[in-house]
Amino acid sequence: MTIHHPSFGQIDDSRVILFDTTLRDGEQSPGFSMNLAEKLRMAEALADLGVDVIEAGFPVASRGDFESVHQIAQHVRGAVICALARSGGKNDIASAGEAIRPAERGRIHNFISTSPLHMKYKLRMEPETVLELITAGNTSARNFTDDVEWSAEDGSRTEPDFLCRCVEAAIKAGATTINIPDTVGYATPEDMERIFSMLRDRVPGADGVIFSAHNHNDLGLAVANTLASVRGGARQIECTINGIGERAGNAALEEIVMALRTRQDAMPFKTRVHSERLLKVSRMLSTITGFDVQPNKAIVGRNAFAHESGIHQDGVLKNAATYEIMTPESVGWSRSSLVLGKHSGRAAFRDKLATLGYGDLGDNQVNDAFARFKDLADHKKVVYDEDIVALVDDEVRDH
Ligand code: KIV
Ligand code: ZN
Repeated sequence: MTIHHPSFGQIDDSRVILFDTTLRDGEQSPGFSMNLAEKLRMAEALADLGVDVIEAGFPVASRGDFESVHQIAQHVRGAVICALARSGGKNDIASAGEAIRPAERGRIHNFISTSPLHMKYKLRMEPETVLELITAGNTSARNFTDDVEWSAEDGSRTEPDFLCRCVEAAIKAGATTINIPDTVGYATPEDMERIFSMLRDRVPGADGVIFSAHNHNDLGLAVANTLASVRGGARQIECTINGIGERAGNAALEEIVMALRTRQDAMPFKTRVHSERLLKVSRMLSTITGFDVQPNKAIVGRNAFAHESGIHQDGVLKNAATYEIMTPESVGWSRSSLVLGKHSGRAAFRDKLATLGYGDLGDNQVNDAFARFKDLADHKKVVYDEDIVALVDDEVRDH
């Protein structure tokens, strides 16, 4: 099955549109705000990475946000530039429309809450009023661009019949992408798959739009929920670099891209991402925001391709595939690293000696140096190259 999209033309069913919201939802993480120059740098890097849509900000929120979206729309080429707006906000749609005007291809993303909890306590609106605002928001957005996305905020906790009515209203009013966020990271993968399958089965006009997944990570399920959404029929994925975002964050772009790439056998979907640029973009974001990713972060964490235990190091030296499911080079690392610590074995120690220029040591010297190294490693968390050099020099001197 193929679908015609105003920005992407004919899209076949195996293609997944990658929508990056690092500069909007990601920037909503406490302490992660970026200035105009930083946002422009990130947007250029995201376009270069191969994302399809860059959500650049929420123009009505502040003068600075408007300016960032406008400048990104003016200067960044190769991706659709998207601006966020509330479906029922007073000036939201006009402000978003004005901000994306210079874009090669521009999108307005309007949203309103649809769950009973949000409608009652946050919006203080009746469901019928929400339906009217969905129609008004999307109709008005279509006056600025043919590429209009609508989101059901707290969609995963919305009553199914009402969600179907909302989606139908959005499609009738001209939305071309329908996003169902798991706003509070509450859903399970089964929930998300079921919601998308239901909407595709039940809503008139569903076969003419792209469904989109937007999962938060409060239970650590954002990536799993996103992949399940794709199984249910979503063909746009909303995500952020390093998984930054409100509270526990959004689904991490680098994890999704590499899950799809590594497990083509189970999930035969394509993105346009140049995966070997992932590490560079991840590091750029860390430098700009001042927040490093945790060492064990998949794909881009410092330990993602590091091996400490002797058994693993021995395996990797014989054939890296024993303990690596993708190559470090495929995501931007120059090589895997064998970290020397108390769990390391003789094979990695010998390999390290060779890289430090001690490849010609005899067996006895290696064995003695290895024993000294093990003593040191029992007392030191990390054994650095300089430690090894000192210890081998001592060994050579003592002989
Ligand atoms: O999490 C959410 O519901 C959102 C919407 C604004 C799309 O970020
Ligand atoms: Zn969100």
